[in-house]
Amino acid sequence: MKPIADRVRELRDAIRHHEERYYIHNDPEISDEAFDRLLHELERLEAEHPELVTQDSPTQRVAGRPVEGFATVEHAQPMLSLDNVYNDEELRAFDERVRKGAGAGEAPVAYVAELKIDGLSIALTYEDGHLVRGATRGDGARGEDVTANVRTIRAIPLALRNGPAGRVEMRGEVYLPRASFDRINREMEDAGEPLFANPRNTAAGTMRNLDPALVAKRGLSAFMYQVVERGGRLQPAEDGPPEGGRHMTHAEMLTAMREWSLPVEPHWRRCADISAVAAFCDEWAEKRRTLEFETDGVVIKVDDLALRERLGATAKFPRWATAFKFPAQQATTVLRAIAVNVGRTGAVTPYAVLEPVFLAGSTISMATLHNADDVARKDLREGDRVLIEKGGDVIPKVVKFIPPHAEDSRPWQMPSRCPECESELRRDEEEVVWRCENSSCPARIRRSMEHFASRTAMNVEGLGASLVDQLIEQGLVHDYADLYALKADQLEQLVVAPRDPKSDRAVPRKLGKVGRNVIEQLERSKSNDLSRLVYALGIRHVGEKVAATLARHFRTMDGLMAASVEALQTAPEIGPVVAASVRAFADEPRNRRLIDRLRDAGVNMASQAPEPTDLPGPLAGKTFVLTGTLTSMTREQATEAIERLGAKVSGSVSKKTSYVVYGAEAGSKLEKARTLGVETLDEEKFLALIMRT
Ligand code: IVH
Repeated sequence: MKPIADRVRELRDAIRHHEERYYIHNDPEISDEAFDRLLHELERLEAEHPELVTQDSPTQRVAGRPVEGFATVEHAQPMLSLDNVYNDEELRAFDERVRKGAGAGEAPVAYVAELKIDGLSIALTYEDGHLVRGATRGDGARGEDVTANVRTIRAIPLALRNGPAGRVEMRGEVYLPRASFDRINREMEDAGEPLFANPRNTAAGTMRNLDPALVAKRGLSAFMYQVVERGGRLQPAEDGPPEGGRHMTHAEMLTAMREWSLPVEPHWRRCADISAVAAFCDEWAEKRRTLEFETDGVVIKVDDLALRERLGATAKFPRWATAFKFPAQQATTVLRAIAVNVGRTGAVTPYAVLEPVFLAGSTISMATLHNADDVARKDLREGDRVLIEKGGDVIPKVVKFIPPHAEDSRPWQMPSRCPECESELRRDEEEVVWRCENSSCPARIRRSMEHFASRTAMNVEGLGASLVDQLIEQGLVHDYADLYALKADQLEQLVVAPRDPKSDRAVPRKLGKVGRNVIEQLERSKSNDLSRLVYALGIRHVGEKVAATLARHFRTMDGLMAASVEALQTAPEIGPVVAASVRAFADEPRNRRLIDRLRDAGVNMASQAPEPTDLPGPLAGKTFVLTGTLTSMTREQATEAIERLGAKVSGSVSKKTSYVVYGAEAGSKLEKARTLGVETLDEEKFLALIMRT
């Protein structure tokens, strides 16, 4: 009889083979039942012989338990983004630049054209052919370690077939196939939960879910498109590429990746010149609808890897690649009405109610209209025929009306009173936004509550718009603190009536298990860092970043609430507007009571971020000003680095400023520095300075 270990190996190979047929080629050779039989046999043998279980066995895809959060990982080489071109002319200008850089004169440069997958970028690390890490792009320099989630994606091999030795990083895109997206939304609908907007957002949200078992159920997939070499350079390496064969071209690299059993989107094409690329783009602008995943363009890459290296990259983009974006998909329909929506800050914004029309995969019945000025500028009137457009975003836009207006139509006007609470709407002289200034306006309270629970604030999954509406309507909650008094039984029994966006019907049902989950999520949210709570409170002018700065600087909620306007401005980059707004919030007795009740409920009121040190650092006494966008780190990370070295970060440039660090799109601060003769540092110099010290 064959040794068990051999059978186990045989089963793993067979399962991987069928996973590949099914998840990569979309062309299974055996039935689902036959596949399950193989998997069950392997599970049984492994249960009987635990010593035979390996990390990359197909039974080990969902090995992890829910995690608390994701660790931050540094990318060996920055994950850059792509520059875009929108038409033939821009495409040819790109080619022109490449040829110039190549010094090739009139000689054509060969490219590989690939479909641009609309998902989220991922970096996979394989060590001697075994998947050891999966990371999101993050800010390009650092991402999140999502290994446990990546392992659940069946298109991604846990072990490569004849893969390269050593540590190799592969880059690609995780996406949600249309079929999975539709299935998930049907399930959400059945559970009475709000629907997901589009496959890309669902994929991104899923990848950041803390429970790998849930991720496994969502049905994500992936395509890989690049091998990043040790030391950060692309193939070919001086010391020989993996496997001994030389990858001289991108086409060869893709072929090798496929041979290692990685999922590679199969429609890529090698194009001898830019005209062939243009033909590929034209072809797919139409054919993309037939694909089972969403694509928003074509990525064009120089085929010759040595030439790529010579071309290099700007701070943001490689010079050897660009993305041709497909034109947004458009349709015409009737603008039935212009309604308004009241946001959490009281901002009242118009939106279009449309005659439902099918566009790019979904039925559209609403579109954004930005603000009243925008409606006036476009002269949109109720009853108009309008052109709508769906770009990368979820919510479509109204581009223009198609003349003429209906005979009896009148220009649209912003209502003078809030549609929810009837208070008079106002707008400041220089503002385009109309506001409802009643802080107890029910619409504002609903939106604030949603904000409080949202992912970047307290992150209470499941507590979305429809549940918030019900909780308020049924009098169960009046403010944030009431959320923490809710009981599991209470929520399980709660009858919700989510509106089905397609039929516009409200279907009442008990919340059931979802209710229990919300309670668990609320419980978990109590230990969030102070920065989340500060942001969640919805203090005017306090966005996510400002909240993080305040929490880190003041350490506790009490410290923050007690700080004077002057004290507030000693925090890095906090100016008079934010300081006044925080002070005004803290002076409101109602807000103080709210915070006391949150504390009594057990919500954490302290910062867990590393304390800014008091020790004199090597840059003590220096003042930095940051302007523009840096590519290798966020503003917070730059601030942190500067403060760690003992220097201060200030928001405005004066003669006392030691350095102005500037990134892309730096504005007047850079000019001012130059006028005042203050030393300026570009990103490279700044990095050199902080590395050196
Ligand atoms: S290459 C250095 N190829 O598009 C350039 N990117 O808009 C690396 N994307 O961040 C990117 N499909 O997440 C490349 N076939 C493809 C792609 C692709 C989708 C994404 C990727 C990138 C973004 C840039």
